[in-house]
Amino acid sequence: MPFDRRFLDELTARSDIVDVVGSYVSLSQRGSEYWGCCPFHSEKTPSFHVRPEQQTYYCFGCKKGGGVISFIMELENLSYPDAVRFLARRANIPVPEEARDDGASRLRARLLALNRDAARFYYQQLHSPKGEEVMAYMRARKITQKNATNFGLGAASSEWDGLLTAMAEKGYTRSELLASGLVINGKNGGAYDKFRSRLIFPIIDVRGDVLGFGGRIISKDDPGAKYMNTPETAVYSKRRVLYGLNLAKKSKRGSILLVEGNIDVVMLHQAGFDNACASMGTALTQEQIHLLSRYTKDIVLCYDNDDAGKIATQKALSLLNDTDFNVRVLELPKRLVDGQYVKQDADDFIKYQGADAFENLLTGSESGTDFRMAQLKSKFDLTNDRGRIEYASAAAQLLAAIPNAVEREVYTVRAAEDAGITADALKTEVSRALSRKIKKDRREQEKRDLRPATAAQPKERSMRYENTRSALAEEGIVRLLTLDDSLFGGEPPLREGEFSSPLLARFFFALWQQRGTPGGVRLSALDGVFSSDELGHLTGILQKPESTDHDARSRALADYLRVIKEESERRANAEDPLAAAMKKYTHNT
Ligand code: UTP
Ligand code: MN
Repeated sequence: MPFDRRFLDELTARSDIVDVVGSYVSLSQRGSEYWGCCPFHSEKTPSFHVRPEQQTYYCFGCKKGGGVISFIMELENLSYPDAVRFLARRANIPVPEEARDDGASRLRARLLALNRDAARFYYQQLHSPKGEEVMAYMRARKITQKNATNFGLGAASSEWDGLLTAMAEKGYTRSELLASGLVINGKNGGAYDKFRSRLIFPIIDVRGDVLGFGGRIISKDDPGAKYMNTPETAVYSKRRVLYGLNLAKKSKRGSILLVEGNIDVVMLHQAGFDNACASMGTALTQEQIHLLSRYTKDIVLCYDNDDAGKIATQKALSLLNDTDFNVRVLELPKRLVDGQYVKQDADDFIKYQGADAFENLLTGSESGTDFRMAQLKSKFDLTNDRGRIEYASAAAQLLAAIPNAVEREVYTVRAAEDAGITADALKTEVSRALSRKIKKDRREQEKRDLRPATAAQPKERSMRYENTRSALAEEGIVRLLTLDDSLFGGEPPLREGEFSSPLLARFFFALWQQRGTPGGVRLSALDGVFSSDELGHLTGILQKPESTDHDARSRALADYLRVIKEESERRANAEDPLAAAMKKYTHNT
């Protein structure tokens, strides 16, 4: 634990979850609970609630849950220690010296320091003789010195251990270097730099920390991947960052421009489009959308104009469809080269057509619905009846998915014109599609509700239960422990190995450890110890009904224990056929 237990107790006592959540979400009281629309996914009817007596929140829709600290971690996108500091500021309590630092946050701090030093090293190298080739490449790409400095661009030379040696001299250990992903283990006990002969792009988050790096080859003859990025580390997760957002968040343009590549971002900023950032070649994620929501309501998608780019645009649009963002799509025209049309990205476009032309595209960019309708239209031959009929029914599907009625009406009329049919005919199709969609959604929801075994499964695959019968009983034990730990004796009733689910075992023993502490067994003390998916799952377990009086609870406990022991014995026997045979033999005599 990086923070003193007593400080944390005071912090959580002074950060009432109803107050804290209530400052972000409008809550209304129902009985002993407070309900509101979930801040983590979009919804129109509340499935998110807060339980003051447990000091927890939980969403039945997206299954996120936990205590007040994990709420702030999720909502403000902060690490555990930062969320604690955030709440401490809010409650006006001083944060004690973080003397007893735990391993995980110590490693994070070391990796951030190492990344910062590495960024400095690459930067200095770019401006030294060892960086000449990279510098020449940068000039060829028309990146100015000023802009290179703005982005902290650097150079990895052709040496195998340039960074390794420099960082070792600064006191970073081999295991820290490996954990940063900047250094790789070789075959015979050696280690070498991951990035060699590459233009280096530090990936900096909105707080200014260097989380990782991207590196581009500088020669066509380099057989390596065109771009290489830091792998997932204790500080870098590609789902959670957007390249350039550290700068774009300060833009006065109001909107955020999303592009595919690192160079696109660098060149757009250079041309005055300082609101550009990139998901670095991967599909836009929920986490990135959540991050963006702190800075803007307006997103412009500007992906490459090829099939991959169009698919990426469609995917991003469907994720953004049920959010509050205004989304527009900027379609880059293809460019005619030697009689052939070739795709171009934002960097190419600015290079050949200039910044003013890009500004024009930006002003004229279409709404997300325009883009989808145009995409759909291009798939049908509207010169014959058959094509028009097929188009009308496909368009009706798409139109039915538009949540806003006015927008739906406008696009329906327009699509009818395109198809050469009357608006009324298409409107009838759309309302049919709409009622089919509502029925289908309802049926799917019912199906989900009727599948207890699947409904009981955690969302994340890594947390899936192997033995549902035992796991549900294990959930019961965890629940009873938080409800009334006086049901339990002095020793844990189960050994770790008797649990079928390692995750539930970890929950149980983490809660067990809190017995006898001043706050008692509380879920809120596990914020920061378990991942947010794990906490969400645990909170979900605690929402399920359990007997209310003491006697009924003791009986439930005995039942749960019996089931778990039975199942664990069954597993043990299945694992060891000899033991099973012996047992059978002894039973028969
Ligand atoms: P592109 O292949 O479109 O390259 O990849 P680009 O951005 O136009 O790069 P230049 O102009 O040739 O330098 C788009 C983005 O996808 C990621 C990078 O972040 C890149 O900027 N990418 C691409 C990788 O991570 N690995 C690769 O091998 C290729
Ligand atoms: Mn490019």
